[in-house]
Amino acid sequence: MGKYIIAGNWKMNKLPSETYDFVKEVAEATKGAECEVVCCTPYVCLAPAVEAAKGTHVKIGAENLHFEDSGAFTGEVSADMLVDLGVDYVIIGHSERRAYNNETDETVNKKIVKALAKGLIPIVCVGESLEEREAGITMDLISIQIKKAFAGISAEDAAKVVVAYEPIWAIGTGKTATDDQAEEVCGGIRQILADLYDDAAAKAVTIQYGGSMNAKNCAGLLAKENIDGGLIGGASLKAPDFATIVAAAK
Ligand code: 13P
Repeated sequence: MGKYIIAGNWKMNKLPSETYDFVKEVAEATKGAECEVVCCTPYVCLAPAVEAAKGTHVKIGAENLHFEDSGAFTGEVSADMLVDLGVDYVIIGHSERRAYNNETDETVNKKIVKALAKGLIPIVCVGESLEEREAGITMDLISIQIKKAFAGISAEDAAKVVVAYEPIWAIGTGKTATDDQAEEVCGGIRQILADLYDDAAAKAVTIQYGGSMNAKNCAGLLAKENIDGGLIGGASLKAPDFATIVAAAK
């Protein structure tokens, strides 16, 4: 299955002045990691994060990007700007951006296309609300999100994408999906990708689980066949907790 990737999503946390030391701490705590280790930081923290990650195994990601190359988009950041800084990953379509920043399946698709064209690795978030889960339409919704996200993307490019399954009801709530619930959807995502492309592309895609993953519950989730890593919010803000999750991913 896909390469194991543990990525922290700092969200709107930590200051630029704290970032260099914290990324160094993460690099030290995760030395010898058998998976890819990524810290996704606020835009203003990216420069010190990249500086601290130099010469270590840690990769740096942004939490968003704009789909245009440049122009009159006040407050936005382009793929070229991220690449120029030395950023490798970018989170696209996080449910918080879908909820608060008008992110749609269409803008998510445009951003994935742009990220891939510029050599950034997109971490594409999908996931259902509690209401949708209770209505029994989880896989229908995920299927639409995946198909729209990957529209127009070649099999070769699709294989580079990371998909993060993040049930909205599990984010920041302390209420994790059970190992089996997470595996069921992650396996479903792989099947959708196999139908869209082929088995080889579907197997190459890294599928992460995200939503209250922590040092205590990570081992069971990461042991599942179709869960190739995690997108970690709260627990990524403490280096020892994050390192425990990294150590469980092999
Ligand atoms: P928590 O780990 O804080 O629940 O956040 C998950 C998440 O949204 C990662 O993108």
